[in-house]
Amino acid sequence: MNNNSKPIIMGNDHAGFHLKNIIKKYLTDMGIDVEDAGAHTEESVDYSDFGISVASMVSSGSFERGILICGTGLGMSMAANRFSNVRAALCNGIFSAEMSRRHNNSNILVMGSRVTGEGVALEIVKHWLETPFDGGRHQMRIEKFNNMGKRI
Ligand code: RB5
Repeated sequence: MNNNSKPIIMGNDHAGFHLKNIIKKYLTDMGIDVEDAGAHTEESVDYSDFGISVASMVSSGSFERGILICGTGLGMSMAANRFSNVRAALCNGIFSAEMSRRHNNSNILVMGSRVTGEGVALEIVKHWLETPFDGGRHQMRIEKFNNMGKRI
């Protein structure tokens, strides 16, 4: 699967604002439509609000893929992975990005702007977009947790 022409929804907090804009330009220059769910400034906001916005759109199927950026990527991935059908992968390097697609069929890429430099971040995005899911035994493994609902 090559997702290069499908629209992507992006979200960020204040810490991720600058990197979000760099990635947004990279994607639009490639001809990919980007829905920008904010934040739209560097004023302090709660990462959880934007993680929830983007994850709910991916969970509902309104968007197939999303990208979330906060300072470390940790808070965004915690928030996003509470949604059914969301498989948010915090990736600090290309290998993780590729494997998150091949084995986990990740549908939200999460990065930390205070962790990952701009050049690496763009490489991560490129590989994440271009790498297909391997399917097979990995699909069965995903199905065990993909739509669990609440567990005590
Ligand atoms: C904001 O200071 C920071 O906590 C946030 O960007 C993120 O790293 C949270 O996980």
